[in-house]
Amino acid sequence: MSISVQGITKVFANKRNKKSVNTVLKDISFDVNEGEFVSLLGPSGCGKTTTLNIIAGFLKQDGGRIVVNGKEVSKPGPDRAFVFQNYALFPWMKVGENIMYPMKMKGIPKKEREQRLQKLLEMAQLQDYANYYIHEISGGMKQRVSLLRALACDPDILLMDEPLGAVDFQMRQLLQVQLENIIQGSNKTALMVTHDVDEAIYLSDRVIVMSRDQGRILADIAIELPRPRDRKDERYHQYMNQLSDVLRAALNGGVKTKGDEELLEFVQKTESREDTRVTFPQKSALQE
Ligand SMILES: Nc1ncnc2c1ncn2[C@@H]1O[C@H](COP(=O)(O)OP(=O)(O)OP(=O)(O)O)[C@@H](O)[C@H]1O
Ligand SMILES: [Mg+2]
Repeated sequence: MSISVQGITKVFANKRNKKSVNTVLKDISFDVNEGEFVSLLGPSGCGKTTTLNIIAGFLKQDGGRIVVNGKEVSKPGPDRAFVFQNYALFPWMKVGENIMYPMKMKGIPKKEREQRLQKLLEMAQLQDYANYYIHEISGGMKQRVSLLRALACDPDILLMDEPLGAVDFQMRQLLQVQLENIIQGSNKTALMVTHDVDEAIYLSDRVIVMSRDQGRILADIAIELPRPRDRKDERYHQYMNQLSDVLRAALNGGVKTKGDEELLEFVQKTESREDTRVTFPQKSALQE
């Protein structure tokens, strides 16, 4: 299934000054083709979550259209599963019940639900936690449960808002590989928000960078590397350099949140390797 974001505008009331409004997104357009994995990067407040919420149908836009597989959508649907930035798990249910909930809603028989649950739990190394309540597990575990719940119904489209942001480094790399396998093996379409540039390059076919200037798209970069990706590949580093340049411009000195700090740290790290840096050829130069 494909996603087409066509000229989306979103205006919020300004809570400090009732007379003015805050245009968070203005005329934003991009496509995610069937089977593609696209990441959204950008500083805090640039409208990444808002964009994802509009595509999911949780939030109504003030202009423009969302087209999924050729049809305009305005409501949430089972074709689009969502992994929330703040997990959004049901605290009164246990881990296993949370993951099985969407399968139950879809009418999947109990036996099959339980089989799928086991597979999913194993994938994220959570098989010992099915009977824990949500408040009894760590933040990183909650995030993994949230991801498993989205995968439970085998959706065509996965919308993920920083799905691995709270997961520690080793588990994160493991889940990146699992996520890649699931998505590549099934022709799913994925749109993921992340503050981790390496994660974006590792997983994505394309990386889109948004700015705080009403969500304006600063770059839409195709990552043309064979899979599974080799982090030691010179071209991998060229993409890192290219994204570092775009992100420096997008941050423009304004660092507000932990996510911004993560982006800034990446830019600074890349800059400190400047001496070994290979400049990535610009599109215009390639065309000449
Ligand atoms: N319900 C709302 N009412 C008013 N303003 C809102 C609402 N939701 C979001 N905003 C504003 O819209 C802007 C974009 O928010 P959004 O959550 O999309 O940013 P983001 O790019 O996901 O940031 P982060 O990286 O911090 O998660 C922010 O200025 C935010 O304050
Ligand atoms: Mg967000």
